[in-house]
Amino acid sequence: MKKLIVANFKMNTTPSEFKAYAMTLATKAKGSKNNIVVCPPYTHLCVAKEILSGSKVEYGAQNISDEENGALTGEISANMIKDLGAEYVIIGHSERRTKFKENDKLINRKIKTALANGLKVVLCVGESMQTRAAKQALTFVRKQLDDDLKGIYENELESVVIAYEPIWAIGSGKNVTSKDIQKMVEAIKKEIEYLYSDKASKKISIIYGGGVTLINYKKVLSLEFLNGALIGGTCLDVDDFTVIAKENY
Ligand code: 13P
Repeated sequence: MKKLIVANFKMNTTPSEFKAYAMTLATKAKGSKNNIVVCPPYTHLCVAKEILSGSKVEYGAQNISDEENGALTGEISANMIKDLGAEYVIIGHSERRTKFKENDKLINRKIKTALANGLKVVLCVGESMQTRAAKQALTFVRKQLDDDLKGIYENELESVVIAYEPIWAIGSGKNVTSKDIQKMVEAIKKEIEYLYSDKASKKISIIYGGGVTLINYKKVLSLEFLNGALIGGTCLDVDDFTVIAKENY
């Protein structure tokens, strides 16, 4: 089954390092049956355009402003990244929700801005360990979806991928079981059915992120209810990332 494999570089690598990475990836990714997307820092997008245009690899950013333009020092807009050939943007990553205090209202506006500019959105949702321990994980994520997708039309969901990233598993993958992921995927589908329709819940793409490495990727990506993976640390090594991205699932 064709999967979506998304690399989130977070704040790692320089543009020069990324150039070498992208050249290797573009060559190695040839013939892959999967959809491969790399999301480096903004400063690397010019390099991505130069090296990855016309290759099998698509690229995107890790964030955008909710505004189209204006007096917003330090911000980057959707049309700026689109102009550099970005196809995707990650929105609502837990690091932005927690460290940069992004709330669901802001995330909702960012999604609308991304979609209005023709970008595909990787919307991250996921609970903390505290929420999981309180047995509130499913309710918490359903509420995130409810708030984040407010006002998004059913036909726009074609451009939205939901990434389930349990916060406690990011960087480690510790103790996440296939059953945990399956239960959350079912809850996400239920919420999409509730918010939209049965058809929408069947069509929605759901990927998993949090500690996907060379050790466990086969197990994660062979789960038939998952459409792919969002990979942090392991994507930084181009050889490791290509192994994951090229596999037939
Ligand atoms: P790791 O793969 O390093 O756990 O990171 C996951 C993540 O946050 C991707 O967005």
